[in-house]
Amino acid sequence: MNADPNHVRIFDTTLRDGEQSPGAAMTLEEKLQIAEMLEAMGVDIIEAGFPIASNGDFEAVREIAKIVTEPVICGLARSGSKDIDRAAEALEGARRKRIHTFISTSPVHMKHKLQMTADEVYEAVIASVARARRYTDDVEWSPEDATRTDRDFLCRCVEAAIKAGASTVNIPDTVGYATPDEYGELIAMLIARVPNIGKAVISTHCHNDLGLAVANSLAGVAAGARQVECTVNGLGERAGNAAMEEIVMALRVRHDRMPFDTAIKSEMITQASRLVSQITGFPVQYNKAIVGKNAFAHESGIHQDGMLKNNQTYEIMLPESVGLTSSSLVLGKLSGRHAFREKLKALGYELGSNAFEDAFRRFKELADKKREIFEDDLVALVDDEMVRGHDRIRVKSLRIVAGTEGPQSATLILEIDGEEKRVEATGSGPVDATFNAIKALVPHTAKLQLYQVHAVTQGTDAQAEVSVRLEEDGKTVAGRGADTDTLVASAWAYVNALNKLLVKRLRTAPPEVSAAASH
Ligand code: KIV
Ligand code: ZN
Repeated sequence: MNADPNHVRIFDTTLRDGEQSPGAAMTLEEKLQIAEMLEAMGVDIIEAGFPIASNGDFEAVREIAKIVTEPVICGLARSGSKDIDRAAEALEGARRKRIHTFISTSPVHMKHKLQMTADEVYEAVIASVARARRYTDDVEWSPEDATRTDRDFLCRCVEAAIKAGASTVNIPDTVGYATPDEYGELIAMLIARVPNIGKAVISTHCHNDLGLAVANSLAGVAAGARQVECTVNGLGERAGNAAMEEIVMALRVRHDRMPFDTAIKSEMITQASRLVSQITGFPVQYNKAIVGKNAFAHESGIHQDGMLKNNQTYEIMLPESVGLTSSSLVLGKLSGRHAFREKLKALGYELGSNAFEDAFRRFKELADKKREIFEDDLVALVDDEMVRGHDRIRVKSLRIVAGTEGPQSATLILEIDGEEKRVEATGSGPVDATFNAIKALVPHTAKLQLYQVHAVTQGTDAQAEVSVRLEEDGKTVAGRGADTDTLVASAWAYVNALNKLLVKRLRTAPPEVSAAASH
């Protein structure tokens, strides 16, 4: 780990705290994809999951620990022995592993959630850290709800955790209640009062309920914390966690005020943001700092005029520094494979030969339909191609009857495990008819939780990007599809979500295909 005293470790918890947000559940393959992206970005520690929480979490931590070797891989555990042993088991294959154990220390949590006395919690802190140390020297301890914890008790617990062997002490603002000055003072108070604090790295973990997560984390760093826990796009419980991209860019752009460094390759921020958004189906707010669609857009005449004269008039960082290249017209109908491959490379994509050929074919089809192809079009197209990659169910054709004269109907052909199935269905609108047709061919009980369409670029010939979220037996999956035809994109998005559900069910049974469906 970097020994520079001004190095701030980035501890990414997108796969643990981020995934805990309702509707953000990810498959194993998706978690691996994100973990590999985080590794490529230079994240110091990846919190890969909460192994005792479910077999899925256990497996994800185990696979990430095997495959992702550069960052430290961390598993979360409550204070009980079973939790800690399970985390250790999941981390067995890791080159560098960390167990992160936590227990609540605030009066309200101890009384109502844990039903434990302060003395019992204190003993549990020591026992849990000591148990985790049986498996690894790298143990992190967190007092959950630290910002609402009695200060004397917090100091005692932090001292005990370090004495028991914790090398990182994380101070969560679990409910997003702190203000920046207060949070900074809390970190400073721990540094001043805990005698052995110098033996541990202090970490921030701030939730965003009041929109202060990033400001609080930075106040913590200014006061002496040298690890920040954060997530891509600020994903996380309720209003989310501190957003990694905002922390990284604030430290970089305002190095004059905050002379601290991270190891993050900021040029990969946009790609990471898109990947997480695409996998979870959580759109990024247009005006979100750093990664929002409008974050670098200059619309008003005065601003555009200033920008043309000198970009420093309205731009505090270059779009390229977060991986955005100019979004002007990029390729046309006559562009060849070489130009296409180079453009994809510049956008951060390296496709295998089959995926490349499929993407190139789709690019040509798109260029036939759409006069101007922008970078956003290519990103949507390639992301979509990657999503479709190994799917067992694929959309072969879709014909729709829509308009004022009902009934609206869909004639759909799906390829299911290589075999074509055809069906006709009606519905109270073309989307409903399309989804009913899919349900007829692949019966399932999953409920549609979200259906969302957005235009990738401007103009009526723009590609539509559709996100769908399905829920079955408490598990949610997100699907995505892109096409110039909104209904085709909708069919792909629904089918993509269904494919993910099948992956989840795969270990028990093959997909059922309706006997009523004709070839
Ligand atoms: O917000 C929180 O307190 C947490 C802990 C488990 C660190 O996520
Ligand atoms: Zn949290």
